[in-house]
Amino acid sequence: MARINENYLKLKAGYLFPEIGRRVREFAKANPEKEIIRMGIGDVTQPLTPTVTKAFHEGVDEMGTLATFKGYGPEQGYEFLREAIAKNDYHARGVQISADEIFVSDGSKCDTGNIQEIFGSDNKIAICDPVYPVYADTTVMSGKTGYCQSNGYFDGIIYMPCNEGNGFLPELPSERPDLIFLCFPNNPTGTVASKEVLKTWVDYAVKNKCIILYDAAYEAFITDPAIPHSIYEIEGAKSVAIEFRSFSKTAGFTGTRCAFTVIPDELMAYDSAGKQHQVKPLWMRRHTTKFNGVSYPVQKAAAAIYTAEGAKEVKAVIDYYLENARVMIESLKSLGYTVFGGINAPYVWVKTKNGLTSWEFFDLLLNEANVVGTPGSGFGPSGEGYFRFSAFAERDNVLKAMERLRKI
Ligand code: MLT
Repeated sequence: MARINENYLKLKAGYLFPEIGRRVREFAKANPEKEIIRMGIGDVTQPLTPTVTKAFHEGVDEMGTLATFKGYGPEQGYEFLREAIAKNDYHARGVQISADEIFVSDGSKCDTGNIQEIFGSDNKIAICDPVYPVYADTTVMSGKTGYCQSNGYFDGIIYMPCNEGNGFLPELPSERPDLIFLCFPNNPTGTVASKEVLKTWVDYAVKNKCIILYDAAYEAFITDPAIPHSIYEIEGAKSVAIEFRSFSKTAGFTGTRCAFTVIPDELMAYDSAGKQHQVKPLWMRRHTTKFNGVSYPVQKAAAAIYTAEGAKEVKAVIDYYLENARVMIESLKSLGYTVFGGINAPYVWVKTKNGLTSWEFFDLLLNEANVVGTPGSGFGPSGEGYFRFSAFAERDNVLKAMERLRKI
């Protein structure tokens, strides 16, 4: 008799974004004449830049010529891309990460979920609340939790509430975790962590033999020069942190798929006898067994963002989204909303008015303004009463959406 992984039964019925999509499709079907503006899921709207597109085309042409055709590529990623990442994303910031410590993949969503496989199922996981749902859902799928309680928390997960009171920055947990998910710039709140804040976490992880799973998918949106782009800018972090980065939001690769994960050589974890093991070979083993690498043209396109022209173009797109965020912050504030994030991040985190729940506000916006955002409670109980707007929209739509909000 085939048996299911019953951990899946513990999950809430649907992943947040497909659920929003379902509600929006229903609304659109019932109201075909309404023009809906989507600022829900953080999906990019601006096309790949000319330099990236050109490199992509060249990669495809190479695949169509006998002399330059390539079959399976290296599972860890082509060296030209890993070298470009090491040089531009790390060495340029004074961080010594080598190309050998970088694993190119098809997405940070997959990597942040899959990474749990190389850690024992008895690890205790700490996550922020609100949080990118993937960390919590994949923790449940991997059997590290009990059931979801009436307060929205799963038994067995250590939750770190992030609210206005603590500036949406998690406090050190009172119970000792083994793995800690952190995401900065934060999805969904748009908060960033200073060097001092990250140092506190690195020191805590060193002291307690924890590993920090650091999601830096939105680092390209950091505008404040004092804010670290990588956790490895913090002394000691290489011995306690795995970092996840993505070309999705940085360079418009949500549909193209390319990301990378960094596992430093000195990162160690323990077996049940307390013996130390390097983590990198485990991920290497997992990656080479279950993954055959990102396609050559995609990696070639990704590498193009590190050319002078590519970097300039990509920055212009990031600036475009950040200007969207600025327009949203200004308009929402002028309408009397309390607003967070959106300065070093593409997400604007808004407190609803008149005591509306997140989903009530979602329905109000959808029905009255035909604008879609993401209910804060979908990211966790502490997100209740908040709403996330994504700045990955077209400017005209941002302006139109803000105008419609003014009218409701
Ligand atoms: C989001 O809207 O939170 C993101 O698009 C989700 C993701 O990157 O998978």
